[in-house]
Amino acid sequence: MNVQDSVAIITGGASGLGEACVRTLIARGGKAVIFDLQADLGGKLVRELGDNVLFAQVDVTSTESVAQGISKAMEKYGKIDITVNCAGTGAPTKVLSKKGVHPLEVFTRIITINLVGTFNVIRLAVEQMAKNAPGESGEKGVIVNTSSAAAFDGQIGQAAYSASKAAIVGMTLPIARECADYGIRVVTIAPGIFDTPLLGSNITAEVRAALNKMVPFPQRMGRPAEFASMVREIVENQYLNGEVIRLDGAIRMAAK
Ligand SMILES: NC(=O)c1ccc[n+]([C@@H]2O[C@H](COP(=O)([O-])OP(=O)(O)OC[C@H]3O[C@@H](n4cnc5c(N)ncnc54)[C@H](O)[C@@H]3O)[C@@H](O)[C@H]2O)c1
Repeated sequence: MNVQDSVAIITGGASGLGEACVRTLIARGGKAVIFDLQADLGGKLVRELGDNVLFAQVDVTSTESVAQGISKAMEKYGKIDITVNCAGTGAPTKVLSKKGVHPLEVFTRIITINLVGTFNVIRLAVEQMAKNAPGESGEKGVIVNTSSAAAFDGQIGQAAYSASKAAIVGMTLPIARECADYGIRVVTIAPGIFDTPLLGSNITAEVRAALNKMVPFPQRMGRPAEFASMVREIVENQYLNGEVIRLDGAIRMAAK
């Protein structure tokens, strides 16, 4: 699918990896609809990038909220071609620690945002994208999900986060198989460690140096623009489907 003149929903698009996707797709002539909770950051991006970006204050875990966001996107741009799921969060918590046992609501919250939220947006976006007129090759849309290296080598304290991200890996192929009937491709990226507010903002120089050293090559954290470049490739390369791509400088996370 050509990014030029396409319309993309980008969840978590107000910050980090999602924001980089907004910038990259706009730079290639596309339009972006940011689904995020952070209205201040979303509004700032709209003011900076102009009429090719729309912000919708959406909670990805809510059916009503996502449906409203999709209506807003349809009103402004008339179609949705691409959905990029970046909204997500983490809360490192041990099963048992000096603070006590892992609160069940923390586990449930991470699963609800990362996994249920991703699925919620997929199902409602597919409903809309399936109505698109097919392109020359029968393509109607592309969905890109964000998993994590933690889906495969989760660290101590990442039970909920790893479970949520592994489930995104697990649902990629069945959803791609099903959506093949509608000409919609589904691909998941599993990033290693990327320099975003989620990971990079609140760390000391020592921690940053230690994180950089964990990556075989290049020995640094990933740049959000590198993630966005992979999203662009997935959108443009029609033969990518049903796959999970690690984007991680060959990092394999240690136990802690
Ligand atoms: N940064 C990394 O190293 C890294 C590594 C692997 C995977 N990831 C994944 O990449 C994705 C993006 O992370 P990031 O690093 O850009 O983080 P980030 O915190 O910069 O951005 C995440 C965005 O998601 C939004 N969000 C959270 N809950 C939401 C909800 N319920 N509804 C709508 N929006 C919501 C936040 O407001 C935020 O703007 C996440 O799914 C994260 O798990 C990040």
